[in-house]
Amino acid sequence: MSSTTARKRRAAFRAVKHIENGMVIGLGSGSTALQAIKMIGELLDSGELYDIMGVPTSSQTMFESIKMKIPLTTLDEYPQLDLGLDGADQIDNKLNAIKGGGGALFREKIIAAACKEYILMADNTKITETLGIGQLLPIEVYPFAITPVIKAIEKLGSKVTIRVTNGKLGPVITDNGNYLIDADFGPIQDPWWLEQEIHSVPGVIETGLFLGYANLAYIGGKGSVKRLKPSIDDTLKKK
Ligand code: A5P
Repeated sequence: MSSTTARKRRAAFRAVKHIENGMVIGLGSGSTALQAIKMIGELLDSGELYDIMGVPTSSQTMFESIKMKIPLTTLDEYPQLDLGLDGADQIDNKLNAIKGGGGALFREKIIAAACKEYILMADNTKITETLGIGQLLPIEVYPFAITPVIKAIEKLGSKVTIRVTNGKLGPVITDNGNYLIDADFGPIQDPWWLEQEIHSVPGVIETGLFLGYANLAYIGGKGSVKRLKPSIDDTLKKK
């Protein structure tokens, strides 16, 4: 196991300890969330955990959860979730985050907003002083609007690329049938302002800025895990 994977595992291990029997959980996407999903599956299998259900944030998570025999449900049955566990691409000291490296940001944000408690899990390379330093901001876009959206996002001061991938010609298509763009804003001094500006562009489905959602983060390091609370309570700004 690589050292980064071990750090992600350590963080996931601590986050999974927050799960109590009877809970309905938001299941995140990405390699760190997958570590948590594997642990949840093992705890269910051993009988240490029981009577829990999950709502997956992506098809990747859905398939992995089915493999691990985690009972799944929907936001229609449980519009409010007890707990959400997810990874992040970058996290600042207010526990604001950039997410969407795996392209699942739209459903991830819907789940984040539905959770009573929302915990981020990450290895220690994800911590930053300011969001956007060395990190692109993913944005999900309705395909019909892709060109005007790119122009509008560039006007906000970023360089934009449409996300493509190996294994398919042309742009990545999200689980929701949309395109993804990655915007390079450099350091984002006022993420709350930027979030509003981007959302005011018609055709933008969702941004990878996760502001005021996380009330706790576990950050895996070399042989240890840091437990972080938001330095200033941005959760108060949450709509
Ligand atoms: C998925 O769209 C993302 O938001 C992931 O949560 C994020 O990219 C973190 O991924 P890793 O856990 O693989 O680093």
